[in-house]
Amino acid sequence: MSTTTPRTGSTGTARTVAPVGPVEAVRLPDPYPFYARLVAERPFAYDETLGAWVAADAAAVRAVLGGDALRVRPPAEPVPAGIVGTPAGEVFGDLVRMTDGPVAARLKAVVAEALARADTARAARLAARHTREVLAAGGEVPYEELMFGVPARVVAELCGLTQGAGREAARAIGDFVQCIPASATPAQQRAAATAAARLRELLTPPLNAASATHVADRGDGAPASGLLAELVGAADRHSWPHLAPLLSNAVGFLSQTYDATAGLIGNTLVALARGAAVPDTPRAITALVREVGRHDAPIQNTRRFAARSFVHAGSEVEPGQQVLVLLAAANRDPAVNPDPDALSPGRVNPVVFTFGAAAHRCPGEELAVALAGAVVTELRTAGLSTTATPAYRPLANARIPLL
Ligand code: HEM
Repeated sequence: MSTTTPRTGSTGTARTVAPVGPVEAVRLPDPYPFYARLVAERPFAYDETLGAWVAADAAAVRAVLGGDALRVRPPAEPVPAGIVGTPAGEVFGDLVRMTDGPVAARLKAVVAEALARADTARAARLAARHTREVLAAGGEVPYEELMFGVPARVVAELCGLTQGAGREAARAIGDFVQCIPASATPAQQRAAATAAARLRELLTPPLNAASATHVADRGDGAPASGLLAELVGAADRHSWPHLAPLLSNAVGFLSQTYDATAGLIGNTLVALARGAAVPDTPRAITALVREVGRHDAPIQNTRRFAARSFVHAGSEVEPGQQVLVLLAAANRDPAVNPDPDALSPGRVNPVVFTFGAAAHRCPGEELAVALAGAVVTELRTAGLSTTATPAYRPLANARIPLL
């Protein structure tokens, strides 16, 4: 179903009338009236134009994300054909984000435990320092660098890279993520392969060092710190013996951070420019960032592919069919969040789908909120604000303002 919806920006002025589908909605000035109509009228329905089912309300999104007949990749193409046999394909094929089944579930437990033990206070300190350094260079504010570069550099440093190597990793991850959308061109896939090879080279020494230190420290001595040390420690506790998938998922830490955290920073800055109360304590900034994550989700949708028949609310998804899961629409379903269009930091028990749900739920939420909070705080301290009515990057699932 593609419909024609009047676009209404945050200022309330009617904009151009354009055909809207659930993928194009991601980059609209205000996609939420469109999502609200889907939630009310077509909470789980087949979209002929898209050639996929669309899950829009909270019940459908929850059911789809929890349904084990639905997979994160098309069963016939676990790795995009254009990167099979390349370093990008090897990394992609190991990512917990891109795999299902019992082995993936074991590895997910390792990855989630490592991220749960990430030092978010250190991450925030590093993000604040890098933000101040970027701003100290003067000139026009480089929002790109602040939104994408700073979080990626911090995660690289948490993985044990030096500042110089962290910079290089942050650039390379920008190339790697280009191979993820189904629309990736051959040139983007080649660049992603080169980037994946380099990222593995950069991350191999700190992973080997973490592994060696872990073996030496087992049982006594102070454990090594850092994200890769946590990864190796969690692997040991879960009897996970293989180092290569750990390396791939370390690359995954960077790729999962990249677009999503940029969107969270950007959308929080836009919310402030639109009049959100300026937070004056660290707790208030965290509450604002979390609520922006619900209200204007940086990741607006994800996809699932039916390996077997899946039924929800009397509708059957047949094997081979695809489901577009509208996380951002479900976040504003009035059945789960009262007064869903209000931006209310500190909401009591909000139901938030921005970080997914069930088996593939994001294990990086705390880290992402810490990074975004630190960058936004530094920008506010420096007295900087952005436009309230930005254009958005032409992406299919991430909502990232062009600032
Ligand atoms: C605002 C920032 C972030 C958002 C909105 C976000 C959102 C998500 C979502 C929606 C998923 C699940 C996708 C699906 O089920 O199809 C996911 C998975 C994941 N995220 Fe995040 N994420 C963010 C930041 C991070 C960070 C900083 C990390 C780690 C450094 C991270 C690590 C992961 C991993 C490892 C997965 C795969 C989990 C799995 O498939 O089992 N994320 N994220």
